[in-house]
Amino acid sequence: MRRILLLLALTSCIDGDQMIERDEPEIPPFDLSSAQTGDFAAFMACMNYDDFVASNMAPAWSTIAMTNQTGTCTGCHTADGMFSGDAQEFFDTLKQRTYVQVQFFTFDRVNDVVDVNEETIPRVGKAVVPYTEHPRFNANKGLDATYALYQRTMTRLASNNCK
Ligand code: HEC
Repeated sequence: MRRILLLLALTSCIDGDQMIERDEPEIPPFDLSSAQTGDFAAFMACMNYDDFVASNMAPAWSTIAMTNQTGTCTGCHTADGMFSGDAQEFFDTLKQRTYVQVQFFTFDRVNDVVDVNEETIPRVGKAVVPYTEHPRFNANKGLDATYALYQRTMTRLASNNCK
């Protein structure tokens, strides 16, 4: 038992760069081992900072209001890196961390299809189990930005314009 506690303490201390690819949620929304293969990896690699800015990702996600209390996504989720009002920081984290990528995008490994994750964040915003304690919000504004980024990235991929 003590050993398990020690391990837990150790893992919670390890942070930053060396954990970038391993920082996964306890209950993955889908098979994370598939996430960085094939088209998903190509999609993430092609994602471009100018497109990220043009899609309004940081302003949109950082200004969604809670409907049942005060606060913003960034107020609580800056430490875990899920969202940031700082475009560069948000972009860098999204590019590097699978955990963050799968909040925004899905990958259907069988059909090799990347798509916008319309499920996870809205479910959290509706406080669906297991997120019953989570503050409520309407994710549409953020999803619009994610769609814009998705479309720009797909266009780049299709026209072989990744840089
Ligand atoms: C008052 C603090 C607070 C605010 C504001 C907040 N969150 Fe959270 N969020 C949490 C906590 C704590 C958890 C983990 C516990 C839980 O699931 O309820 C969480 C979990 C989540 C998860 C699930 C992550 C996972 O690994 O399953 C998502 C997605 C999420 N939040 C998105 C958002 C978005 C989007 C906003 C803004 C619109 C937001 N949160 C605002 C505190 C907050």
